This record gives sequence, C-alpha cells and structure tokens, in this order.
Amino acid sequence: MLNLIIHNQSEDQKKAVDVIASENIRILEEAKTGENCYADSQGWLDTEEWAGEENIKRLEEIAKEIRENADAFVLIGVGGSNNAARSVIEALRKDDAPEIIYAGNTLSPDAMNRMMKRLEGKSIYIDCIAKNFETLEPGSSFRILRKYMEKTYGEEAGKRIIATGTVGSSLETLCTKYGYTFLEFPLNVGGRYTAMTNVGLLPMAVAGIDISELVKGARDMQIRVHEESAEKNIAYQYACLRNLYYKEGYRVEMLSSFEPQFRFFYKWWIQLFAESEGKDNKGVFPVAGEFSEELHSVGQFIQDGSPIMFETFLDVKKQNASLIVEPDEKEDYFDYLDGKDFWEINKAAYHATVAAHSKKLPCLTIEVDELDAYHFGQLFYFFQFACYLSCKIMGVNPFDQPGVEAYKKWMFEALGK
Ligand code: PA5
Repeated sequence: MLNLIIHNQSEDQKKAVDVIASENIRILEEAKTGENCYADSQGWLDTEEWAGEENIKRLEEIAKEIRENADAFVLIGVGGSNNAARSVIEALRKDDAPEIIYAGNTLSPDAMNRMMKRLEGKSIYIDCIAKNFETLEPGSSFRILRKYMEKTYGEEAGKRIIATGTVGSSLETLCTKYGYTFLEFPLNVGGRYTAMTNVGLLPMAVAGIDISELVKGARDMQIRVHEESAEKNIAYQYACLRNLYYKEGYRVEMLSSFEPQFRFFYKWWIQLFAESEGKDNKGVFPVAGEFSEELHSVGQFIQDGSPIMFETFLDVKKQNASLIVEPDEKEDYFDYLDGKDFWEINKAAYHATVAAHSKKLPCLTIEVDELDAYHFGQLFYFFQFACYLSCKIMGVNPFDQPGVEAYKKWMFEALGK
C-alpha cells in the first residue's frame, strides 16, 4: 500500500486544491480509459499489455539462463532505457545474482575504459536497450561491447548478446543478421514509462528481483487509481497538489527520503517528471534529497533559502534492518543513544525534518509499506499515472520530449553524421 500524507495544509490551500480537483475531473476520467490522441504512448496504462503472465514467464526463462552462466550482465542503455531497472536493481539485487554493469550512458572514454576493465576475466552477457537506435551513447557502446564479445567468445558471442529494440528497427536487423536474441521494445511506450516492459523487467529478473511481484504491485496500483473517486484518488490528489504549489510559485519539487536504497529511484523519478512536464516554459523542476546526508548541505537552503520548493518524502513503514547502539564506557557524549536501534534513530531524523521543513514549505509524504519488489511496482505505476495527470492539468503533453532534440542537432553536425 501507498498513502499520501499532507503535513501542513491551510484551509485556503484545502479549498484551492479542491477547486483544481473539481475543475479537472474530466482529465482523470479520460486518463482512466486512455486518450486517442496519445494512443501511440499509452501502452503502459494497462500493465497486462506488456507485462502479462506469458511475457513474464519468457523473461524469467531468459534471465535464468543468464543467471546460470554469467558473472556479469551489461545493461547498455540511457535515460528511460536504464533508469527503471537500475533503480530496483541497486535497491534489491540478490547477492547471488550476476554483477550488473551499466554502459551506454556516457561518452567519457575514462568511464568507458573503467567499465571495460570490470569485464576482464568474467563470463559476460550484454543487453543493448534502445527505442531509437540513433542514440549516440548506447549505439557507440554497443559497438565497443559487441567487438569485445566477438573477440572473447568467437562463434558463441551471438548467444550472449541480447538487444531490446522496436520491431522494424536497425537494431532488430542486426539481431536477425548476426543471431542475437531480440526482445521487443514497445512502440507504444516512451522510454521513461517502460518499467513494466521487457526494457525494465529483463535486467531486473537477471538481478534476482521477483518481477511477478513487481508487476503485481503495479497492477494493484493500476486497479486502485482507475477505481478510486477523485477525492480519494492518491495519484489525482498528488497531481492536483503539485499544480497548486506550482501556481503558488513553488518551482522545484524535492523527492527526499532517509533510505539510500532509493538513490537510483530518484534518478528515474527525476527523468519522468523533468522530461514529461518541463516544456512550453512550464513545469516543476524535480530534484532529489538524499537524507540524512544532505541535511548537512542543501538542508540549509531548504530551511532558510529562497522559498522555491516543496518537498515530497518517501517513508518506508516496515523495518527492514536493525542495528543497536551498544553502551560504551568511553565518554563520547553519545550515551543518549544507548540501546537505541538505528531504525528508530533514522525515523527520529525523518520526523524532525518534516517538523522543521513544514514550517517553511509545503511538505507531503508518500508512505510505502515495505521496501520490496511489490512496492517498487506500486511506486512506478503511481508516479507514472500521477505524472500523466499532472502534465494534463498543467496543459503540457506528458509523452513527448522535443527539448532534448535541440543539442543533438549541433552534436551530430559536429560529429559529421
Ligand atoms: O523517455 C524517453 O523517451 C527518453 O528519455 C529515452 O528513454 C532516452 O532518450 C533513450 O532513448 P533510446 O532508448 O531511444 O536510446
């Protein structure tokens, strides 16, 4: 389960958010059924379409073979083609799973050389994930890695190479010609909405994540936000609140938590909202707060700096680890912690931060029952649906990204493409 808590709402804000909710009710109803104008981008709306039982079974079989034979699995992809998988893998990867190495997300030769060094002496499988196989980072890395695979494995290389691309793409042609395994990248899902497709699910399964549970979590959230009325609808309420804060002049949203396991989830979330909402000179700029560490750096700005942001905390309810502070006869002035569990200490820091920050800026919490695959699935669907609603309320297209093309024109020209 996920819950939305509003920490500091005035009567005026409550009225204002109710007005936004009632004025935009049609947006919620349209989103539930899907809109014709976005038919080419809404394949994620029903998780059954790309994450049905049959497909999960197939992905689990491929992942099993990789897990049995690989020491390391290289995920080649950038942005929407790696962020979802990486966010779950870095939080929940099983100890006995192959090491997951990321490539295709940089053009730095130093970073690429370091990545290649990590392959030495290991049994490797690779998956190149790209919707548009013109993207420079994955395309160029795939070439380097293919060469490495051919040199290392000779004839057998093809069996260890997977590519996830769209049907009819040049990536599919490469697969057919050279005998690589081809997985379909849905044409009707944009990169940042692909957590529940081959794009996100295969790498997660290789890392030992229970992808059936993840999809079940997403599916349950899908049912919930498609059934709940506007007043109770967690995704719609969150979308309306974001729009209220935006209207009030808050231009930044910080997603914060006290669990470092969310480190790469922030990256996924930042891409989702930045690329979906930031257009037509509008949008809330998404940033992350890695607490408690960053309370000692950006914490100063949040509490005392220009009032540009609102904050959304992720708070996990079920304790997943324990570490007790033992008494110590050496005087270090930390005796007030004797016998306390770090779980409890971390929670105290969370509650104190909410108390302090909510005096200054709007603060929300999304409570997450447990940090497991099921709840990652819930979070993916919740934020994707909420982002779609939030964009619609703001009046922007949630599914395109015209702004990222501008620099590419100059870059391709400079490189002589
Ligand atoms: O969400 C998106 O569509 C983008 O961020 C893409 O995922 C990203 O640019 C990578 O694109 P591709 O998979 O075509 O390499």
